Amino acid sequence: MSQAKGNEVMEKVVSLCKRKGFIFQSSEIYGGLNGCWDYGPLGVELLRNIKETWWRAMTYREDVEGLDASILMHPRTWEASGHVENFTDPLVDCRQCKARFREDLLTEDQREAGQCPVCGNKEVLTEAREFNLMFKTFVGPVEEDGNRVFLRPETAQGIFVNFLNVQAAMRQKLPFGIAQIGKAFRNEINTRNFLFRTREFEQMEMQFFCTPGTEDEWFEYWRQERWNWFRQIGLPESKLRWHEHQGDELAHYARAAYDVEYEFPFGWGEIEGVHNRTDFDLKQHEEFSGKALRYFDDQSREKVLPCVVETSIGASRTLMACLVNAYAEEEVKGEKRVVMRFHPGIAPIKAAILPLVKRDGMPELAREVEAGLRTQFPVAYDEGGAIGRRYRRMDEVGTPFCVTVDSQTLEDRTVTVRERDSMEQDRVAIDALAGELTARMGNWQAE
Ligand code: GAP
Repeated sequence: MSQAKGNEVMEKVVSLCKRKGFIFQSSEIYGGLNGCWDYGPLGVELLRNIKETWWRAMTYREDVEGLDASILMHPRTWEASGHVENFTDPLVDCRQCKARFREDLLTEDQREAGQCPVCGNKEVLTEAREFNLMFKTFVGPVEEDGNRVFLRPETAQGIFVNFLNVQAAMRQKLPFGIAQIGKAFRNEINTRNFLFRTREFEQMEMQFFCTPGTEDEWFEYWRQERWNWFRQIGLPESKLRWHEHQGDELAHYARAAYDVEYEFPFGWGEIEGVHNRTDFDLKQHEEFSGKALRYFDDQSREKVLPCVVETSIGASRTLMACLVNAYAEEEVKGEKRVVMRFHPGIAPIKAAILPLVKRDGMPELAREVEAGLRTQFPVAYDEGGAIGRRYRRMDEVGTPFCVTVDSQTLEDRTVTVRERDSMEQDRVAIDALAGELTARMGNWQAE
């Protein structure tokens, strides 16, 4: 996709997100806060559905336990993890226009000429200085260095420090994993591309602890599992690819790493990282805390420091991939239709109930149908305007089914079910409706 076309698609998606209640700018009435976004009624539902599919895939199994660790952790955690020392970006300023950006994003030519990418002037850039991305705050009423803590920049460390707690409480044996979903914070120098790079976001991370020597095998296993999961939420393989980290790209804790990238309208971007973290983290925490983090192996009668395979995905970045992937414009009978082709599993509203007209007892019967479905999944009720307009409203928010109550419904208690993508309609008995819609969602074939 060309840059101009990509920008156009992004603008349309951002505008739809605001108009339809998916995503709002944070503190908009005060002019917004850069790098922060609010999830509206449909956005929060979409995000919850993505997190729920991840949680089910990752923890509804014998060998992975769930966790929800605190955001604020003992400051030594971040010394042990290497974040105090290494979690930095090189920052440069333009002396002319005062713009500030990451030095590693400059082109070779710009770097050589000291050229500002914003104002275009040459020899105006300052030397790069390292800028730590962790947000700092204070515990207690006194703001002094001894009370300084960080907002976690990743959820992973809460898992490492709880490794033995979880293992003992759940009587787990190696290999096993710990998964959690939660907020992470990074004081990014340049936030960009809507939800792609933000200062506050959610991660879904899993650390899989295994016997040293088996980590390469588990690394391959988890890469495959994670690839399969993207199909479950409806992202097509044609828009996904693996990127292997080479040399300098590897994080300080990783021996091998692959990213899953999605082809956004502005180009390919990472949505998930799978890392072989070796025993780096547990070893560091042992050293910095002075507490042993070893697992006692019943069979060998030895204490083992496990190796770790990590899967780390941004929930908000995944949501953004789902939004741009779903967005489509079509021509139907000479009219433009905007449709969000979400997989039904993540669609915020599963069905809309629409009485054909506002009389003859149709609204009352439609309310009865709505009440029957609402206990099963989120539904909408809409009786305002022409039926075609109501279908379009539902297409635009990605509702997979529109259920219409018409004059035949009054006679035989059947409704029409219109399917969002094909726009085909058929009749289903009210009594069988919930089961039928559930079955259709379960059998949904992604395009
Ligand atoms: N524990 C490993 C770790 O945090 P990472 O590659 O820095 O690895 C993992 O982050 C995922 O978190 C990324 O693939 C991305 O989806 C998401 N992520 C990272 N920084 C982000 C940001 N500033 N805004 C939104 N999502 C971000």
